[in-house]
Amino acid sequence: MVCCGRALDSPCTLALLVGFQFAFVLYFSLGGFRGLVSVLVHSSEPEFDYSRPHDVYTNLSQLSALLPPQPGPTGANQQLRDCLLPSPLLVGPVSVRLSSPPSLEEIKEKNPLVTLGGRYRPLDCEPRHHTAIVVPYRNRQSHLRTLLYHLHPFLQRQQIHYSIYIVHQSGNSTFNRAKLLNVGVREALKEEDWSCIFLHDVDLLPENDHNTYTCHPQYPTHLSVAMDKFRYRLPYPQYFGGVSAVTPDQYLKMNGFPNQYWGWGGEDDDIATRVRLSGMKIVRPPVAIGHYKMIKHKGDQGNEQNPRRFDLLKRTRLNWRSDGLNSLTYELLSKELEPLYTNLSVNIGEDPHPPKKKSEPPRNVSRPTAKPIVRSKELGKLGVFSTQATKLEHAELKVANKSSGVVQKVVKQEVG
Ligand SMILES: *[C@@H]1O[C@H](CO)[C@@H](O)[C@H](O)[C@H]1NC(C)=O
Ligand SMILES: *[C@@H]1O[C@H](CO)[C@@H](O)[C@H](O)[C@H]1NC(C)=O
Ligand SMILES: *[C@@H]1O[C@H](CO)[C@@H](O)[C@H](O)[C@H]1NC(C)=O
Ligand SMILES: *[C@@H]1O[C@H](CO)[C@@H](O)[C@H](O)[C@H]1NC(C)=O
Ligand SMILES: *[C@@H]1O[C@H](CO)[C@@H](O)[C@H](O)[C@H]1NC(C)=O
Repeated sequence: MVCCGRALDSPCTLALLVGFQFAFVLYFSLGGFRGLVSVLVHSSEPEFDYSRPHDVYTNLSQLSALLPPQPGPTGANQQLRDCLLPSPLLVGPVSVRLSSPPSLEEIKEKNPLVTLGGRYRPLDCEPRHHTAIVVPYRNRQSHLRTLLYHLHPFLQRQQIHYSIYIVHQSGNSTFNRAKLLNVGVREALKEEDWSCIFLHDVDLLPENDHNTYTCHPQYPTHLSVAMDKFRYRLPYPQYFGGVSAVTPDQYLKMNGFPNQYWGWGGEDDDIATRVRLSGMKIVRPPVAIGHYKMIKHKGDQGNEQNPRRFDLLKRTRLNWRSDGLNSLTYELLSKELEPLYTNLSVNIGEDPHPPKKKSEPPRNVSRPTAKPIVRSKELGKLGVFSTQATKLEHAELKVANKSSGVVQKVVKQEVG
């Protein structure tokens, strides 16, 4: 401004342009705004070396050494000191065993302190947190074993009192994750006065034990902020899928979760919207801590994409007070206390709009192969919530496409 004349081609303008370009290159090579800040100000983000993870059973033998020779009569315990915060047993990044999980028998042997129903309570200190882990489930035997093998030592090191509930959807109707979560929360709270409820997908494994399975006193927490599937970034700002947590109070305030999402997708965005509509916000651990690995698998049968999800999301604002915890109906078929988990088997009813059966004679119509992309473009106009859902779909498609160099650029744009 000081030196420049009016002429657009003056050497000064040119110098300015070059200067700006240089600044931009510098800016992005430093990792954008965040990078710039962390260079200028010392970053408060914790740092972890994920290249050398500990075995997930590290330090567990120390706990077993505490096993009393004869368990005293319950309730006769003398006053225990409060557990330390953070737990001194934590090790940070832990390795994740994704393939060939051990048998339930072997997992049980490795976790001698876990009691019937998949419960644990520290023996040498009074836990400050009481967490129910609720896992919606159907026909994922090997995923379940992988999760149990990983989560039990992970949680014991955190010195919390916890229990793992799987909510098994009986029958053949379309999978309904959010409704199963509602059932799990209600049944878990019947058993125990849990202070925190974790809503946990069966195929997600936490990679850092500083990611404590506890609740924020005021706000719902989203924990799976950095999944390998999304290149360890949040796919979009309102993302609430994977692993999240609420206190019973927060859960009541948002009238629980929707019961109407049959099939894959949408329900997590609905829940995120409920959080906002009920006057709360979502809190998250730092990205460096919220690392998760996802077990790779093909979409399973009985959990087809829900074609109605965008329509439902448009109506969350109208529906959340009437559809949720206060409209929940189901039938508890059985509750089995297994050594490593509690199995709640429930009948949650039938999908009122079941997907068309594959056994029908296929119509001879050529289908576009990139169908999801086409669909999300069509639906991109539907408003904020559906846009978020669409973004997720995009993110998944893009990340799934490993051959494409476009990926990194897109992720950068979304985060930056
Ligand atoms: C837990 O394991 C780590 C790594 O082996 C070790 O450095 C730490 O001292 C152990 N913690 C305790 C309380 O023993
Ligand atoms: C579910 O499907 C299986 C196999 O397709 C069948 O054997 C079973 O009877 C069905 N169950 C119900 C309750 O319809
Ligand atoms: C849970 O219980 C139901 C009903 O008994 C059973 O069919 C299902 O296989 C059980 N699931 C697991 C993982 O134990
Ligand atoms: C589909 O239609 C095409 C052309 O009409 C025909 O050549 C093909 O055999 C049909 N395929 C099936 C599975 O009916
Ligand atoms: C993956 O990327 C390639 C190259 O950019 C592209 O041709 C292809 O359509 C992409 N596939 C999907 C499923 O997005």
